[in-house]
Amino acid sequence: MDDLNQLNLSESIIERWLRETDPLELDHLWEAADKTRRKFVGNEVHLRGLIEISNYCIRNCDYCGLRASNKKVERYRLSKDEILGAVEEAVNLGYGTIVMQAGEDPGIRVDWLADIIESIKEISNVAITLSLGERDESEWRQWYTAGADRYLLRFETSDKELYERIHPSGNNPRPHRLEQLKTLKQIGYETGSGVMVGIPGQSFQSLAHDISLFRELDLDMIGIGPFIPCPGTPLAENPIAYALAGGSDQVRNDDLSTLKALALTRLVRPDANIPSTTALGTINPDKGRELGLKRGANIVMPNFTPMPYRKMYAIYPDKASLSESADHIETGESLLRQQIKTMGRTVGTGQGSRPGFIRKQE
Ligand code: 5AD
Ligand code: SF4
Repeated sequence: MDDLNQLNLSESIIERWLRETDPLELDHLWEAADKTRRKFVGNEVHLRGLIEISNYCIRNCDYCGLRASNKKVERYRLSKDEILGAVEEAVNLGYGTIVMQAGEDPGIRVDWLADIIESIKEISNVAITLSLGERDESEWRQWYTAGADRYLLRFETSDKELYERIHPSGNNPRPHRLEQLKTLKQIGYETGSGVMVGIPGQSFQSLAHDISLFRELDLDMIGIGPFIPCPGTPLAENPIAYALAGGSDQVRNDDLSTLKALALTRLVRPDANIPSTTALGTINPDKGRELGLKRGANIVMPNFTPMPYRKMYAIYPDKASLSESADHIETGESLLRQQIKTMGRTVGTGQGSRPGFIRKQE
């Protein structure tokens, strides 16, 4: 228990905590994470308005429902007007950040999106986060210059063999994701990454290494969710083969494992912005979101994708946000605000950047 007070949690201590199952012991972990969250980022829960702007994807990640070879997905790309409409909705509700997310879609042309970024900044001084996968550095630079503030790119796992097993590379010529994260930082983005917990073949040791990498990379934002099997994808159809390839030290893809990883992440990156993810809310619809916020998280990302498209953004089944019906955005919104208040927390105002972060002067 005392080992949680160390400033630099070693990888072996992280691994030991990931293996811990005694609820009384785990209470110490939850308490340490919550206390650290309060001390470094306070009681505000910042809301980020998520807009899934396209579900086209040229990649074939073995776990994801949007993989290119999944022909059952009906593909869409939002128009500029649809995107600006969703932005206005979030801005009217007082949101300080919008997140534009998509599969890896070369149909998102660099100039097209730069123009949209500029138009959003004319509507409001919201922070703009992009989550659009791997792109050329020049494109990332152009979007930063247009006004984008943050970029999310999960490295998914730092275990090289596991990464290669679940990511058919095709002819992807790009550098390693960790290199790409450094590039994003150099450009000036607040940079986010993250992993899935319980990927078949993921060992405790490799997850512990992922968490210590969050500290090494000095990430500003860290998203952690459980792996959720998505029917029709190789990882859901044949999980045992993947698990066997990884050895016998398999991390479970349940809410407890995810919450342990989340709490430890708060301890190693005390002032990072850490969401209570939709995936966590999906595997535990009653309590997932709340438990995330009580055990280290300080961010929630409600969905503002226009309703007809929302069900098409099916990276995994039964995504929690599908139940937030468009007609009921305001009901969902007030429930969320109520939940935050009941927990003794407040809804954040302003952009909610990492404390002390200053955007580069152009
Ligand atoms: N289960 C959980 N998370 C998934 N993602 C993609 N597919 C799944 C899945 N089946 C996550 C990946 C990706 C993010 C956009 O969604 O971590 O980076
Ligand atoms: Fe495409 Fe992202 Fe899904 Fe991989 S995880 S297939 S890059 S949408």
